[in-house]
Amino acid sequence: MAKKLFIKTHGCQMNVYDSARMADVLAPLGYAKTETPDDADMVIINTCHIREKAAEKVFSELGHWRIRKHAAQARGADVTIAVAGCVAQAEGKELINRAPFVDLVIGSQAYHQLPELLARAERARVKGTGGRGILATDFPPDSKFDHLPDEISAAPGPVGYLAVQEGCDKFCTFCVVPYTRGAEYSRPAEAILREADRLVATGVQEIALLGQNVNAWHGEGPDGKSWSLGRLLRVLNDRFAKTHPHLRWRYTTSHPREMGDDLIAAHGDVAGLMPFLHLPIQAGSDAVLKAMNRGHRAGDYLRVVEKLRAARPDIALSGDFITGFPGETDADFEATLRVVREARFAAGYSFKYSNRPGTPGSLLGKQVPDAVSSERLQALQALLQELSGDFNRACEGRELDVLFQKPGRQNGQLIGYSQYMQAIYVTDAALKIGDRLPVTIAGGYANSLAGEIVRREAA
Ligand code: 5AD
Ligand code: SF4
Repeated sequence: MAKKLFIKTHGCQMNVYDSARMADVLAPLGYAKTETPDDADMVIINTCHIREKAAEKVFSELGHWRIRKHAAQARGADVTIAVAGCVAQAEGKELINRAPFVDLVIGSQAYHQLPELLARAERARVKGTGGRGILATDFPPDSKFDHLPDEISAAPGPVGYLAVQEGCDKFCTFCVVPYTRGAEYSRPAEAILREADRLVATGVQEIALLGQNVNAWHGEGPDGKSWSLGRLLRVLNDRFAKTHPHLRWRYTTSHPREMGDDLIAAHGDVAGLMPFLHLPIQAGSDAVLKAMNRGHRAGDYLRVVEKLRAARPDIALSGDFITGFPGETDADFEATLRVVREARFAAGYSFKYSNRPGTPGSLLGKQVPDAVSSERLQALQALLQELSGDFNRACEGRELDVLFQKPGRQNGQLIGYSQYMQAIYVTDAALKIGDRLPVTIAGGYANSLAGEIVRREAA
């Protein structure tokens, strides 16, 4: 009988990708994914470590699983508990010590080893030598991508994720990613093309290329030449242009330093590349950007934005921002507000600085009082809401290209995403998840838009 696998995914889209690949690794062992935790034989908690209290949240979530595991054991059954992702990578030993009922702790570069690790956990259990979970958080010498199965065990739905790049060598002083994900690595072009073929065969209508520094991707193409991400996008778009002319392409997350001219030009000439880009800037003051070790100034960022708009005038931009980085003054924060206005972000994600142990930022003095960080965060969020409201209102009356992806809260309502990555709500009895249609925008608000289906031809 198939064993049931429940995966709880926290954090970024790379974790969503990793969760899908872990399911692929376990499928040949007879594990089938379940959406209900109640009857799971195995649970994987795929964790995120980006901001504060991450580990504490994992411990509290594990508390529920400990109760379930003990209840299963009382019935003579068992639940295998695995912790994966960035908290596993960063706090593996602590997890093993503090939560002895956890069977496996698997780092972000080790999950292709799940079958061997599970067998080891099983042997420990049979021998009764258990009590301590297995820790697998080394960065192995060869890439996990070389060992992941080709088969995709479950169709991802309308949008497929494809990891093309992983890791980070930028070492922004606030960020744990270089430590949890390791050095920058680009997958070979050939492997990416084959994975894209398999994703398209599942029926996806949009593919998002993923990487912590996705636009740093570079590799040797099958033609023996060195390819940039711009080139890869062109090749991917052309590869499916005849068979699947309506595929939508995106890539995330990008670093301003890696926005090369070739990639910028792709926004003007790759038909399926959506006119949206998530390009974090983090702060608008050059002094803060320097202290963050971003490797770019505010002006460099604005020049990239200008070039992007020259290549694709309607491109919508979103960014990430941090308020209250150590040493940030009122004047520095004002500079962030100015840059946000100047770049005219269509959306933004802003966070209060969170001191992460082990990062260089955690050793800086001049911590900004929490109340000041909070106040700045509120002001920034108000501005970002104003700008996203402006952008969304300007879409009223327009017809947007919407791919419907999930149910809304109301009966008969679905949520889809436009080419600009806006969330569009439509209530229409004939609509199904996976439909892609032109939608007429009836109302644009700060965080969403209301749409109506006026005509049913494909977009
Ligand atoms: N504190 C606050 N925000 C952070 N981010 C990353 N590290 C931290 C931190 N220590 C934010 C950045 C990044 C996003 C994914 O999370 O804005 O772009
Ligand atoms: Fe973190 Fe900076 Fe690397 Fe992005 S570029 S993952 S913020 S260190």
